[in-house]
Amino acid sequence: MNFGTPLSSSALRVMLLGSGELGKELIIALQRLGVETIAVDRYAHAPGQQVAHRAHVIDMSDAHALRALVEMEKPHLIVPEIEAIATAELLAIESEGLCQVIPSARAAHLTMNRAGIRRLAAETLHLPTSPYRFADSLDSLRDAIHAHIGLPCIVKPVMSSSGKGQSRITREEDIPIAWDYAAEAARVDYGEVIVEGIVDFDFEITLLTVRALAEKGQIHTAFCAPIGHRQVNGDYVESWQPQVMSAAALTRARYIAQQVTDNLGGYGIFGVELFVKGDEVWFSEVSPRPHDTGMVTLCTQYQNEFELHARAILGLPVDTRLREQGASAVIYGGITADAPSYQGLAEALAVPCSDVRLFGKPNALPARRMGVALATAESTGIARERAGLAASRVHLFQTPR
Ligand SMILES: Nc1ncnc2c1ncn2[C@@H]1O[C@H](COP(=O)(O)OP(=O)(O)O)[C@@H](O)[C@H]1O
Ligand SMILES: [Mg+2]
Repeated sequence: MNFGTPLSSSALRVMLLGSGELGKELIIALQRLGVETIAVDRYAHAPGQQVAHRAHVIDMSDAHALRALVEMEKPHLIVPEIEAIATAELLAIESEGLCQVIPSARAAHLTMNRAGIRRLAAETLHLPTSPYRFADSLDSLRDAIHAHIGLPCIVKPVMSSSGKGQSRITREEDIPIAWDYAAEAARVDYGEVIVEGIVDFDFEITLLTVRALAEKGQIHTAFCAPIGHRQVNGDYVESWQPQVMSAAALTRARYIAQQVTDNLGGYGIFGVELFVKGDEVWFSEVSPRPHDTGMVTLCTQYQNEFELHARAILGLPVDTRLREQGASAVIYGGITADAPSYQGLAEALAVPCSDVRLFGKPNALPARRMGVALATAESTGIARERAGLAASRVHLFQTPR
């Protein structure tokens, strides 16, 4: 890797596909290492575009548009930040040697569709997962539930994130509703859903797992302390680190994360989502990139998940140690507004050991993630209270015209 000067012919260029709040922090981390950054998103003034050297607005699921942009910008690395990308085109771009995809085009391709990653984990790697079936019609969904999964169960579009289109159903009458809801919310219409049996877990974690170059040029896998989180309707509301768990469960969790990330390969951070009950652990899904629940590492680790990703993809060594206990709490829009204004920031930051990030998104929606509150403490319990309190003090309002 040649570390050059941004905006010159020696520049090391990194293109982000998706430039939301996670991309924004990654871009800041890359810029601190003198990298030239190019932020791509489907709408203008996305958070990452506000801090990048250049910004482009394209439909990233459009293969032609994606290739044209890559040919124009000639990045050395492409870093997917979202799942809804023309990943088949990324496979072609990578195999032609145009540029390197992080962690690999195959990993981006496999994880953008729940079917790819679930089959890899359960059928190829034989890791424990919830029971599951795929269905491509209302009738086949009914069959899958009646013959295999039973009620209650969870129905999800194979292509979706942040809980979109997902429903937990308990009654026969809910099946068509769940099918319609999934079809409506699917990002790219694949007309396919996964139906999963419910895992009765004690808690769920994200195990941030980093594949980075160690001394002697070998790839080393390092783990962050487990992050506990709470999801409401499939979307993360708060997270904390570390999540206390038994030694046996932690060993099991690391084993599963290592199996999955070894198979996906490449360099970078992975958010491995796992369900835990006592000493038992189930694989749920994996993001081959920083994870939303991992925003807590902005206040808890020596190197946060964005710095870890930046270092790992640039072939640099990483340090995954926890510095102190902490928590994050999401600040939602609460309202629908264009160019919203914010109040209560001073009150939020008056909470001891707290911090706030506002993402600067151009539009607010009631359930849209607009910022995050962070807090540290001598225990995760107190950190959660502090982060929650700080988040609750920030309010959006429509800026008067
Ligand atoms: N099979 C399951 N059993 C129990 N809870 C589940 C199951 N699948 C999903 N969930 C809950 O829903 C959340 C979101 O599901 P996930 O598959 O991670 O979707 P997304 O890709 O939208 O994040 C999970 O973090 C978990 O809380
Ligand atoms: Mg998830």
